[in-house]
Amino acid sequence: MAESGKGNEKLVWNAAMVAPNSYPEHDPATAILRKKSAPNKLIVDDATNDDNSVLSLSTATMERLKFYRGDMVLIKGKKRRDTVLIVLADDNVEDSKVRINKVVRQNLRVRLGDVVSLYACTDIKYGNRIHVLPIDDSVEGVTGNLFQNYLKPYFIEAYRPVRKGDIFSVRYGTHTAEFKVIETDPAVYCIVAGGTVIHCEGEPVKRKDQPKHLDVGYDDIGGCRRQMAQIREVVELPLSHPQLFKSIGIEPPSGILMFGPPGTGKTMMARAVANESGVFFFLINGPEIMSNVTGESEENLRKAFKEAEKNSPAVIFIDNLDSIAPKRDKTNGEVERRVVSELLALMDGFKSRSNVVVMAATNCPNSIDPALRRFGRFDLEIDFGIPNLAERLEILRIHTRDMKLGHDVDLEQIASETYGYVGSDIASLCSQAAMQQIREKMDLFDLDDETIDAKILNSLAVTMDNFRYALRVSKPAALRETSRSL
Ligand SMILES: Nc1ncnc2c1ncn2[C@@H]1O[C@H](COP(=O)(O)OP(=O)(O)O)[C@@H](O)[C@H]1O
Ligand SMILES: [Mg+2]
Repeated sequence: MAESGKGNEKLVWNAAMVAPNSYPEHDPATAILRKKSAPNKLIVDDATNDDNSVLSLSTATMERLKFYRGDMVLIKGKKRRDTVLIVLADDNVEDSKVRINKVVRQNLRVRLGDVVSLYACTDIKYGNRIHVLPIDDSVEGVTGNLFQNYLKPYFIEAYRPVRKGDIFSVRYGTHTAEFKVIETDPAVYCIVAGGTVIHCEGEPVKRKDQPKHLDVGYDDIGGCRRQMAQIREVVELPLSHPQLFKSIGIEPPSGILMFGPPGTGKTMMARAVANESGVFFFLINGPEIMSNVTGESEENLRKAFKEAEKNSPAVIFIDNLDSIAPKRDKTNGEVERRVVSELLALMDGFKSRSNVVVMAATNCPNSIDPALRRFGRFDLEIDFGIPNLAERLEILRIHTRDMKLGHDVDLEQIASETYGYVGSDIASLCSQAAMQQIREKMDLFDLDDETIDAKILNSLAVTMDNFRYALRVSKPAALRETSRSL
């Protein structure tokens, strides 16, 4: 990371900073990722007609992609999510955009401004039967017949495509109920037609068991553009196209060591890789596999590697590597010594097969046994440094993305006043500012009342003063820990 190390940093604007998903044009490190941009990739915009089953494109885009009005289109979002929608033409849509409503965006795990890809979907069949269940909190207190009032009118003569696992919302009067597609027959996608049986018997599904929209993804990590590009290149490329490396005659890197101060996003990065790459992911938390029973720690490690290999392509992620692999000559622990040797052996054994990548993270790379940091083991080291001004701004944007901000909030100013803050410091700064806003409004409502007046709720917006307060009460971890050497 190019941090000047001085207090008077200058903010240099570039396109990449504005659009979190774009990559610098002339940066060879991100060339492979840039290549992925293709004509069927479009930017998500909000739908004007709130229909869960359609997407709208401009006529020009429809022609370019050879879609006709009413065609079924497969749309791919993030975290390997996809669904099928009916395409409609709408010339109010920009040529580079696609309009989908909020429900669809949540199913695809995308937000406004994200990029999705579109494909013709030719093999979708009429469903024999589908099973849908309501989401518990969306039908609380609803007494009428869910099928008669909600599902039947929603599906009748609409020929809606559905996808197993998706959630859809249905209005009845002023109330909106949400349903989840539990099962579909004959395939994960099908069209609900006259002959499709719709089952809706069973207990409502619990909202809290549903995967959150906010599962970490690549776009939740700010200020780590180069690190992310490097990791994706090393993780996604060899796992999806191992032949590339074979034909040029080199081994892809077998291990990646992420290091940097606590709170810079290392664990988050590994979780994002797991969510987005779609490869099998095996998490080992260093301290958790350690056991005092002789041989058990090594056995745990062997099991993890075996499991990963069985499910390859796979990523093994060892968090807090230092706790299981300290320098052998500096530790008194017999267990640690044996675990390091076992890890070395396992990684060497993997090299030839190379369809498993080992990732590890640590706050103190220098305490790790040096034998692990050689070629063929953790041969790529990625530095998660303290973010610079532009990177802090990117992280601030991410953490305030879903927040209601007052008009006076100047994120650039806040970024310039947070020298030394890492990602986790910025996350806590934002939540402290939001808490302060709530505290300010506390005396406007009666704590004994169950519901809070909509007017008060609408007036909640985090102000620059709230951020000023948060800046006063917070301290970056780096400054708190100056005495600690890495
Ligand atoms: N680069 C970043 N961008 C956005 N948020 C971050 C970043 N780094 C850290 N955070 C925030 O801090 C929290 C802790 O980060 P984590 O990944 O556990 O750090 P590490 O593993 O490097 O110690 C995250 O859940 C996130 O909220
Ligand atoms: Mg961590």
